[in-house]
Amino acid sequence: MERTFAIIKPDAVTAARAGAILSRIEQAGFRVVAMRLQHLTRAQAEGFYAVHAARPFFSSLTDFMSSGPCVLLALEAPDAIKRWRALMGATDPAKADAGTLRKDFGQSIEFNATHGSDAPETAAFELGYFFRGLELR
Ligand code: CMP
Repeated sequence: MERTFAIIKPDAVTAARAGAILSRIEQAGFRVVAMRLQHLTRAQAEGFYAVHAARPFFSSLTDFMSSGPCVLLALEAPDAIKRWRALMGATDPAKADAGTLRKDFGQSIEFNATHGSDAPETAAFELGYFFRGLELR
């Protein structure tokens, strides 16, 4: 079993698609270990995406991520990191395969509906950034 960290981003939550995305997560066989609706502050979004601080889109990205509530998730499944990334599809919805979440719910490379950890080290950091140990049982 493996755990990964996922976000249903403000674009999808505001458009009332969080339930549809959660349903797809459950249908794909992930166990929801922890889940919370949270409107991030700008500083929380900046800390989360610190690895992208030098990118030209950092300011716009952290603006977007603090523009409305997110659904924060800890997901568990065999090979969860890779499987969640496969279910999300490519970062840019225009390049995402049919049947993926970003293809179905994303609007642009920035407003792309979902986030997922890209490696075990990132998953450990991201799960710990938002969830306390007691929530991850
Ligand atoms: P995510 O998987 O959350 O990781 C970083 C985020 O930055 C990404 O999804 C997009 O929302 C955003 N992003 C990545 N590339 C670009 C880009 N070229 N322009 C704007 N936003 C981007």
